[in-house]
Amino acid sequence: MAEPRIPPPIAMLAELTHRCPLACPYCSNPLELASKDTELSTETWGRVFREAAALGVLQLHLSGGEPAARRDLEELVVRAREAGLYTNLITSGVGLTRARLEALEAAGLDHIQLSVQGVRAEIADRIGGYKGGFARKMELAEHIAELGFPLTLNAVMHRHNLDDLPETLDLALRLGARRIEVACVQFQGWALRNRAALQPSREQVERAKRVVAEARKSRAGRLVIDFVPPDYFADFPKACMGGWGSTGLNVAPDGTVLPCHAAQTIPGLEFQSVATEALADIWYRGPAFMAFRGTDWMPELCRSCDRRDVDFGGCRCQAMALTGDPAATDPVCRKSPQRARLDAIVAAEADYDVPPSFIYRRLRGPVPA
Ligand code: SF4
Ligand code: FES
Repeated sequence: MAEPRIPPPIAMLAELTHRCPLACPYCSNPLELASKDTELSTETWGRVFREAAALGVLQLHLSGGEPAARRDLEELVVRAREAGLYTNLITSGVGLTRARLEALEAAGLDHIQLSVQGVRAEIADRIGGYKGGFARKMELAEHIAELGFPLTLNAVMHRHNLDDLPETLDLALRLGARRIEVACVQFQGWALRNRAALQPSREQVERAKRVVAEARKSRAGRLVIDFVPPDYFADFPKACMGGWGSTGLNVAPDGTVLPCHAAQTIPGLEFQSVATEALADIWYRGPAFMAFRGTDWMPELCRSCDRRDVDFGGCRCQAMALTGDPAATDPVCRKSPQRARLDAIVAAEADYDVPPSFIYRRLRGPVPA
C-alpha cells in the first residue's frame, strides 16, 4: 500500500555488524555496541534487501563496524544485487584480502568506500588503534585499483589530522580514487565521548576550507571533493539525513530500524525491528519515523523560519545531546538561544595545548567516564 504524502527512502545503510578490528575514537557507532550473537542472519538480511528494493530503495550501503567481519559478506552482496540494489561497501579495508575482493567482484559489488585515518602509518595507526592497519590499507587499495572498482576515500578529519588535508587529497589521487569525502568529525556516539580530544581549532577549520576551495580548482576533472565542515563552527545546522524520515534509513546489526545512526540516543522513541515488522510498515508508520517528520514537531523558532525547508531544524540527536531536548532547534543555529553554550564548548575544547587522551571504541566492557 503506497503512502501518497511520504516519499520512499532512496538509500539504506545496513550496519551488518558492530565488530571491527579498528577502535577509532571518532566512530559514530553507539557506546553500547551489538554483540555477534544478536546479528541478523544471511537469510534475514536477504529478505530485508528485497523489502528495501520493493519499498523504493536504490542504493544499499553495507557498513558496520567493519562489514568484512561478516564471513557471509560476499553472499550478502549477491542477495542485494539479486534484489536489484546498487551496492556500496564502506570498509576500513582491514579484514579484506585480494581473494575476498575478487569474490566481491564476482558477487557484483558496485563501489567501495575505503576509510583512511591519516596519511602516515604513525598517525593512522594511532587513531585507528591498530598497529599495521595503514600498511594493510595501502596494500588493499592497490588491489582495489587493479580490479577496477570505483573507489571513494573516506577521510574523517579532526584536530589530529586536519593539517594533513593537502596530503590526504594527494593520497586519494595516488590510490586512484575518483572521489574523496572529507568529513570533519560529527559528534555522535564514540566521537561525542571523545569530543574534547578531537575538536579542531578555528584556525584549522578556516585553513581547511581554503585548501578545499583551492583543490577543487586544481584537481577539477580528476577528483571530486565532498567536504563536510564541522557543525560547531557553522552558522546554520546541516540538514541531517536530508530531513528526518525523508530520504534514508539505517538498519542496526540486530535488525532495529533507525531514522539515523544516533537515533537511539533519544529517549522515549519507540523503535521496531525487521525481525517482526515489514520494512514498509516501519518506514511509513513507525512511531520513531513519525516523531520528527515534517514540520509539526518544530519549535516556533524553526516553524516560522525561512530555512525550515532547507535544514529542517538541524539534527535531532545533536539537539538532544547538547540541550537535552530532541525537539529543540539545533544549537548550531545562530538563532538558537543555546548557541552561546556551543561557542563556549568550542572555545574551551579548542584551547587545550595537550588535548585529552583518546577513549578507544570497544565492543565490551564499561566506557571510562
Ligand atoms: Fe534552521 Fe530552525 Fe535555525 Fe531556521 S531557526 S535556520 S529552521 S535551525
Ligand atoms: Fe540523528 Fe542527526 S544524527 S538526526
